Amino acid sequence: MDHLLIQGGVPLRGRVRVNGAKNACLPIIAAALLTGEPVIIEGVPDLLDVRTMIEVLESLGSAVDYEPDSGLLRVVSGDLLPAAPRADLVGRMRASFLVLGPLLALKKRVSLPLPGGCAIGTRPIDLHLKGLAAMGAEFSTVNGCVEGETAGLQGARIYLDFPSVGATENIMMAATLARGTTFLENAATEPEIVDLANCLNSMGAAVVGAGTTCIRIEGVAGLCGTRHQIIPDRIEAGTLLLAGVVTGGDVIVENALPDHLKPLRAKLAEAGVVVEEVGSTAMRAAANSRTAAVDLKTMPHPGFSTDLQPQFMTLMALSKGTGTVTETVFENRFHHVEGLTRMGAQIRVEGRQAIVRGQPFLTGAPLTASDLRGAAALLLAGLAAQGKTELNGMGHLWRGYSRLEERLVSLGARIEHISSETERAMQTGV
Ligand code: UD1
Repeated sequence: MDHLLIQGGVPLRGRVRVNGAKNACLPIIAAALLTGEPVIIEGVPDLLDVRTMIEVLESLGSAVDYEPDSGLLRVVSGDLLPAAPRADLVGRMRASFLVLGPLLALKKRVSLPLPGGCAIGTRPIDLHLKGLAAMGAEFSTVNGCVEGETAGLQGARIYLDFPSVGATENIMMAATLARGTTFLENAATEPEIVDLANCLNSMGAAVVGAGTTCIRIEGVAGLCGTRHQIIPDRIEAGTLLLAGVVTGGDVIVENALPDHLKPLRAKLAEAGVVVEEVGSTAMRAAANSRTAAVDLKTMPHPGFSTDLQPQFMTLMALSKGTGTVTETVFENRFHHVEGLTRMGAQIRVEGRQAIVRGQPFLTGAPLTASDLRGAAALLLAGLAAQGKTELNGMGHLWRGYSRLEERLVSLGARIEHISSETERAMQTGV
């Protein structure tokens, strides 16, 4: 099994560049289903999740060209064949469910297996279905698949019980081709929603208000091709900044939008970290002394992102004093606690809250990641710890970070990627 060997204790220093945002790419690739004309997307990171989404589109009959080195992706959806992508792909990644809205709008029927993804909670899809049902779709569940049908989607007034990112995206995409106007209230406001809306508008859609809690979508007769640049990944930027901070280093992340990082910046500053903007597209974070404990609560945007909670918990495990982490977005997002505890962290989980008593140091240990951001948290802990950490479960990390270990090495980290082949060669002495 591939794993990383991390020799901890080296303060990271230097500059590193952030890739395009995974969570913007995935819905925008799905949006390319909405037109027969070419959609060209720039800044697409080479991630397992992106590869899965490409396969989902190919299984629907789209022609996809992807150049991972340049980050250029070209999709031509032409005549979509089935209204059902390959089941194994949807099971592999929850975001494949983002083809639901586009397929319903275009083909008026769809069949999708219930989605998979990170092991961070039950992650239902009721809000997606309720919204689309209000627009005239009917759903049933048959043999673990959601079957949807509509005589033609109609604009509607939809209030989301919770500002779900995926539901906002699915409804927004479907509404671009519905008859009439859709008002989506209590919508998610994440920067990735704005990026999707900008892309849809450049395809001829009429989406107004993305980034606020009320989005108005005027249905149009058809969409055209476009060329769109993906926004920088704020979660990757935050992860890299935190990697610098937990190791007591000083890191500048380039291609990071300071506005998108406000919640993290506020918490880092509260913990005593020097955080500053470097021009309009870079951020610096430096830990000059041991950080102070803080209380953290994850919330939908513009609150503190749940996707940075595990990595921030690594910092808290090393901070001075006791702080709490309250996870309000997902019901089961503390898998990384087990790994951190193995390294000497003092963390007690009570329901959706973790009480973290900061320790002066962590020690390296053999660890296995079980979800994407948890993997990043353990990697950061390995970088900060005394001694060696062996981190398994790398597939989770590669779902959402492209060549992260190489970029950390460029900042001074001592990480070795042991691939299965290397390991076999070592064992046989080749
Ligand atoms: C997206 C992000 C993910 C991030 C999450 C929250 C992508 C590809 N993934 O996931 O990285 O962690 O937003 O910021 O963009 N829920 C329901 N019913 C629904 C839909 C959601 O109850 O129909 C609940 C979920 O179980 C969860 C919460 O709402 O507890 C947030 O989910 P949602 O915002 O939909 O997250 P995703 O779109 O899956």
